[in-house]
Amino acid sequence: MTSPADPGRHETPPAGADPAPAHPETIYEMVGGHEAFVQLTALFYEGVAADPPLRDLYPEQDLGPAEDRLRMFLEQFFGGPKTYSETRGHPRLRMRHVDFAVTPAQRDRWLHHMTAAMDRMGFPAEADQMMRAYFERAAHFMVNTLEDDAPPLHESAPPPPVHPAPRRPRLSVRRVQE
Ligand code: HEM
Repeated sequence: MTSPADPGRHETPPAGADPAPAHPETIYEMVGGHEAFVQLTALFYEGVAADPPLRDLYPEQDLGPAEDRLRMFLEQFFGGPKTYSETRGHPRLRMRHVDFAVTPAQRDRWLHHMTAAMDRMGFPAEADQMMRAYFERAAHFMVNTLEDDAPPLHESAPPPPVHPAPRRPRLSVRRVQE
């Protein structure tokens, strides 16, 4: 495949038309290339920055470098330049997330901001569906911590009795239903 960065493969679009290639081959090209990913990740990180519980998960004061890493990864994953692997090595995304407590609630926050960013981008339907399906699947895969803010069950529940409690007369099922 020719590199999407090669301007020779793009036909000159008519004035005012979408500058995407006439025959996009990848999702990267279908949604508008580099600029589209710059905007998508900027919108996503605006959401993260304004969401304290999720923001707290990101170790750096400046979200800019994290935004660049996500953009490079997504560009590569969706068929664009391979800058992510060239600068960061093999993605191994799940491993790269083990230091952060990705709970189901945090995953939902992450997905909420990505979905909102996708809504605002308004990508062509086919690419939009494929990207959303990927985000949904990948975000679920990144969950590595099951207990949310609540303490683990064994800390909050009373310990089980050492000896069984004396048996109390049992209500019959019929009686309960009456
Ligand atoms: C589609 C799902 C996801 C993708 C594609 C993704 C992608 C990435 C990438 C590429 C990085 C940078 C890795 C590196 O090069 O070091 C990263 C970092 C990170 N991700 Fe995710 N992620 C996803 C889901 C999540 C979720 C669900 C959470 C938490 C709720 C999360 C939290 C983080 C955090 C805290 C970092 C560290 C920030 C940094 O320094 O780069 N990610 N993620």
